[in-house]
Amino acid sequence: DLGGYRHYMYKEIQEQPECLERMIRGRLDDRFGVSRLDGLNLTPRDLRGFARVKILGCGSAYYAGQIGATMIEDLARVPADAEAASEFRYRNPIIEADTLYIAVSQSGETADTAFAVEEVKRKGGRVVGLVNVVGSTIARACDGGLYLHAGPEIAVASTKALTNMAVGFAMIALALGRVRDLSNADGQRIVAALRALPKQVAAIVEAEARIAEHAKICADARSLFFIGRVRGFPVAREGAQKFKEISYRHAEAYQTSELKHGPLALIDEELPTVAIVPSDDLADRNLAAMQQIKARKGQVLAITHDDVDFGDLDVPRFVVPRSEPELDPILLTIPLQLLAYHAALILGHDIDKPRNLAKSVTVE
Ligand code: BG6
Repeated sequence: DLGGYRHYMYKEIQEQPECLERMIRGRLDDRFGVSRLDGLNLTPRDLRGFARVKILGCGSAYYAGQIGATMIEDLARVPADAEAASEFRYRNPIIEADTLYIAVSQSGETADTAFAVEEVKRKGGRVVGLVNVVGSTIARACDGGLYLHAGPEIAVASTKALTNMAVGFAMIALALGRVRDLSNADGQRIVAALRALPKQVAAIVEAEARIAEHAKICADARSLFFIGRVRGFPVAREGAQKFKEISYRHAEAYQTSELKHGPLALIDEELPTVAIVPSDDLADRNLAAMQQIKARKGQVLAITHDDVDFGDLDVPRFVVPRSEPELDPILLTIPLQLLAYHAALILGHDIDKPRNLAKSVTVE
């Protein structure tokens, strides 16, 4: 039911604050600064025993996994990475007993992800799911998991499910961190930041008009770059994914640091760049990169925080509220949904059902 909205994607973007509330409800302990994730079926001893985390998903779920891997390394100091589930099974992956495998999927029916789960289980690995659809194939195949509680997601381009995936990873990171060296105070800091997210997301969504202003330039371009560093890079990847899915424009994500090692050759007045510039210790380097783009007549839109000092760098900015640094990617992703949506709207595309794509690909 569209409930008066023009598109499901738009409705689903708007619903995010309430979806986030459902995701964290009953799962956070303020006093001990920890998450309570009974559904994972992992004891504190199990959590303590994992030497590594491997996240498996496809498309946006894969990029959410990359956001999640960074959170797990940041908060729990456990080596973590995300891999495209579609590739995993074909490289005869090494499955280790002390690795926690996490399958992430909105639909729970993506064949590539389901096969990856099967591969882990067949070789005796432990896999938990981060899935939206209750009772789905992947949810049933996993040894435990966390449901996303985002409600039905109809638009092909994932928005609310992806946001809840990122929050799910933050809560798993907290659980892994608090049985290790993450202090009670740091745990409390993250719990408070998670509780603040719904209102912060609402504020970004309300500022929609300010991001829509930039959609025309992006829609007119034949090709775009999305750039970011470290925590900002998976955000850039997801931003590019969302943009290409519904605008049919070529959008490529790059590490800002890698620009000068090749892609800078493409920059001219016709190739705009969306730069993820959080307020962190890389901000100065990000500013220098934007300067280099400007010097080559490239247009830049910065997704940033209000305390980043742009000096005399004259670049349009969209400012998002700050979370804790580890959780900033969750908020930095939201304006990119709106940017893609408004570009597709200008281009007159079928936003909810982009050509050539299906909501869930249940065949290999
Ligand atoms: C793709 C969709 O086929 O599947 C993407 O086009 C989606 O938008 C991906 O992110 C993964 O889907 P799921 O349901 O496993 O999260």
